Amino acid sequence: MVGITLGIESTAHTAAVGIISPDGTILADEKSIYTPEKGSGIHPREAGRHHAEALPKLITDALLSANLSSSDISLVSFARGPGLGPCLRTGATAARSFGHKLNIPIIGVNHCVAHLEIGLLEGATDPVLLYVSGANTQVIAYSNGRFRVFGETLDIGLGNGLDKFGREVGLEFPGGPKIEKLSEGPNLINLPYSVKGMDMSFSGLITSSLNKFKSGQKLENVCYSLQETAFAMSCEVAERALAHTGKNELVLGGGVACNSRLREMAETMAKERNATCFVPERSLCVDNGVMIAWLGSVMMAGDYQLSEIDNQVDQKFRTDMVEVSWR
Ligand code: ATP
Ligand code: FE2
Repeated sequence: MVGITLGIESTAHTAAVGIISPDGTILADEKSIYTPEKGSGIHPREAGRHHAEALPKLITDALLSANLSSSDISLVSFARGPGLGPCLRTGATAARSFGHKLNIPIIGVNHCVAHLEIGLLEGATDPVLLYVSGANTQVIAYSNGRFRVFGETLDIGLGNGLDKFGREVGLEFPGGPKIEKLSEGPNLINLPYSVKGMDMSFSGLITSSLNKFKSGQKLENVCYSLQETAFAMSCEVAERALAHTGKNELVLGGGVACNSRLREMAETMAKERNATCFVPERSLCVDNGVMIAWLGSVMMAGDYQLSEIDNQVDQKFRTDMVEVSWR
């Protein structure tokens, strides 16, 4: 029987600690986000250093906000990957030191699967996940004993693409939310729409958007067109995965899923095919510790057998490498 779980997230920009009870009640959700210096991208070692400083206080704050002491925690879960080496190692170290001190089990989980499984807290039972974050853009679903990636970006993650566009046109990091605010249009500019089979490619779209801006197109029109094109591509692949798997639930995850226009497009698409779209609260769409705690808790409740490997980070921990014993 699994009791209360504390989860640690540290795969990329966000260091976070969440606490959850076995019935899915969220008891704490604390975060601290590393922001790179103006004009540059994420620096893995700097981000790792940020997380190393932030995590001890996040753990204390999470326990305080849950009104618990550390001895109330019976499982510690952390994101084993995928992610940036220095960031992952920091989270794993924090999890090990917390777990060893309390003599409780430590479980390393897959970050992408955590974005999917948090959809079950929203009421989904067997969804297709459209996962659009900074580094990742994937369409994932459970099929034949594994979580499978049905489609993904062939180059950059959509969020990183939006951030890159934002940086080049002078918007502060993260660019995604600023682009959303500027997306007034009204003119739709023709941009490369690039879906290949079930995969997507964004880097040509970002370059082309930049060129439109440099050649004098209004920023509001370029932002609007960039969003419309990128989101239509993502929704098309998600729709194909729904059709292919015969599932009728869609879950959105990742920071880009905070975008109101993407939410609207995904909801419309789901409705048109009699599917239900589940959109977790924004705090649970972005990287968070709650989803890591929840997945650890679900896996242990489902008789997942811990081994040495569950203690080690894996930068390239792919979604379909996860042994699924809890479904
Ligand atoms: P990972 O890819 O490992 O999940 P991450 O830290 O890059 O890591 P998230 O925290 O899920 O990912 O999301 C951050 C991304 O979400 C950034 O690229 C940011 O621009 C984007 N984002 C946040 N809000 C919005 C929004 N309203 N519209 C579009 N993009 C957004
Ligand atoms: Fe993420």
